[in-house]
Amino acid sequence: MEKPITGKCSQQLWLVIFVLFVLCLVLSCFDYSTMMGAKNEVTFLFNQPNPLVILENETNSATNQSITDPFVETQSNIDPCQGRYIYVHDLPSRFNYYFLENCQSVTRGTSFNMCPYMVNSGIGPEIENTQGVLSEKSWFSTNQFLLEVIFHNKMKKYQCLTNDSSQASAIFVPFYAGLDASQFLWSPNISVRDSSAQDLLRWLVEKPEWKKMSGRDHFFVAGRISWDFRRQTDESSDWGSKLRFLPESKNMTMLSVEASSWKNDFAIPYPTNFHPSKDSEVFEWQNLMKTQNRSYLFTFAGAPRPDLTNSLRGVAIEQCRSSRACKFIDCSSDGSKCDNPAHLMRVFQSSVYCLQPPGDSYTRRSIFDSILAGCIPVFFHPGTAYAQYLWHFPSNATEYSVYIPVRDMKVWKGNVEKILLGISKEKEMAMREEVIGLIPRIIYADPRSRLETFEDAFDLAVKGVLERVEGVRRVINEGGDPGVGFAEADDYKYTFTEWERFE
Ligand SMILES: *[C@@H]1O[C@H](CO)[C@@H](O)[C@H](O)[C@H]1NC(C)=O
Ligand SMILES: *[C@@H]1O[C@H](CO)[C@@H](O)[C@H](O)[C@H]1NC(C)=O
Ligand SMILES: *[C@@H]1O[C@H](CO)[C@@H](O)[C@H](O)[C@H]1NC(C)=O
Ligand SMILES: *[C@@H]1O[C@H](CO)[C@@H](O)[C@H](O)[C@H]1NC(C)=O
Ligand SMILES: *[C@@H]1O[C@H](CO)[C@@H](O)[C@H](O)[C@H]1NC(C)=O
Ligand SMILES: *[C@@H]1O[C@H](CO)[C@@H](O)[C@H](O)[C@H]1NC(C)=O
Ligand SMILES: *[C@@H]1O[C@H](CO)[C@@H](O)[C@H](O)[C@H]1NC(C)=O
Repeated sequence: MEKPITGKCSQQLWLVIFVLFVLCLVLSCFDYSTMMGAKNEVTFLFNQPNPLVILENETNSATNQSITDPFVETQSNIDPCQGRYIYVHDLPSRFNYYFLENCQSVTRGTSFNMCPYMVNSGIGPEIENTQGVLSEKSWFSTNQFLLEVIFHNKMKKYQCLTNDSSQASAIFVPFYAGLDASQFLWSPNISVRDSSAQDLLRWLVEKPEWKKMSGRDHFFVAGRISWDFRRQTDESSDWGSKLRFLPESKNMTMLSVEASSWKNDFAIPYPTNFHPSKDSEVFEWQNLMKTQNRSYLFTFAGAPRPDLTNSLRGVAIEQCRSSRACKFIDCSSDGSKCDNPAHLMRVFQSSVYCLQPPGDSYTRRSIFDSILAGCIPVFFHPGTAYAQYLWHFPSNATEYSVYIPVRDMKVWKGNVEKILLGISKEKEMAMREEVIGLIPRIIYADPRSRLETFEDAFDLAVKGVLERVEGVRRVINEGGDPGVGFAEADDYKYTFTEWERFE
């Protein structure tokens, strides 16, 4: 076949191509200016294929026959990673791999030995006895504190990694912040608690990557709640490390299982035990959850605390125990009941609603177990989910959950059973459908493989970070102050008034 470009209508074609080329250049520059910092102009000018997509689509709609084969070929070379490149810092091993090799050192403060959970890229050993409840091969004994290891391993398989940090849209810092903190959190000496955070930040600011955006494109992950890194005073009785209040750290974004009210903290789902390696495993599980017989109206899984009547958890337990429609799973008396995923999932799968009162902190891993089981979560405080998992949950809370706000424990007279019985069957079915639809979004697929059609919790987290950094970059390019709105406290986030619309 002759090259179309040298054919008879070549004059017109050349004209079209010339115009396209000029347009392309103009758009490249334009696009570049909104996307990139001022430093890497030359590199990016010809490396910016997005405008071609726009042109293809515009040309198509105008005169579809004018597109020639060579041009189509150029289009198929479009870089799908544009705007999604991530550079991963190669940290000294004392900030990450050390903890895997010295897993005994991080068991402090958790009641069990962490070492067995480190296998299989951090998702833990496969659950062998699935008791006919869990699907084969996709369930693992996962420890929530290893989220940072799981995330790091998934990042190693991310499609758009780059070794050229000037090309990167965001910089990932694979610091195992929670594992690190767990060694020292109980130390009475605050300088011991803060020392590795300071060490890390000293290391980071020395790197050329820091200078580009003063760290505002940097992010890291913690498998602990944010409050563990937000000690506000230097009283040794005050909890946590100071990591997130150090000046360099303020310029970074932290993803963790529970965010604080500062705007540079974002919540991402707790890891569950379900880590499918194929899309079909997700479909099968979703279908299974759609057809469960749910003989309990509601369920609560948790450990009683001594001050029963003064905590929402205590009230949940009381109301559950006194209702014949409720199944209570006591997590204290026989720990194996709650630690045994097959047992827990069996009950959640047999329940229509799962109570999620705040416990020691606002959030609980159980939120995600209940979603996995197609059990509609019941929230009592906006900080448990609505103010947290903004990238992963629908913005309209009433679509997938029941909200029973309890503003003041002492005067609250609600009856959970009555409220739940008042919800229509249609509404219940619509919510369950939504909950089951959320399953792919809240799971961390096996880091050793990749799902084809679903975006999992990791994918959505990365997307969230890229959008955030892109927003900051836009502010910088427009001459604004990237510090505005970046790390301040948002005191309204966890207040009831902020979420009244879902009552
Ligand atoms: C261009 O493509 C986008 C996304 O593929 C589509 O939404 C839009 O309608 C298209 N525009 C034209 C003019 O075809
Ligand atoms: C242009 O493309 C449209 C949509 O693909 C098609 O319907 C139309 O027939 C095409 N026109 C010509 C002239 O080929
Ligand atoms: C980055 O460099 C390392 C070491 O040279 C290499 O193993 C890795 O494949 C490179 N990654 C990418 C995305 O180019
Ligand atoms: C805290 O630890 C540091 C470093 O190990 C040490 O220099 C300091 O004396 C300790 N402070 C107290 C009050 O024990
Ligand atoms: C944090 O970012 C601001 C710019 O937004 C910069 O002026 C400041 O120096 C940065 N802080 C550190 C410690 O790098
Ligand atoms: C649900 O209950 C019905 C009737 O009791 C039974 O036939 C069916 O097998 C049950 N389904 C499941 C998934 O257990
Ligand atoms: C939220 O969803 C519910 C149920 O689907 C719907 O009735 C309501 O209008 C929605 N609210 C908002 C603010 O979109």
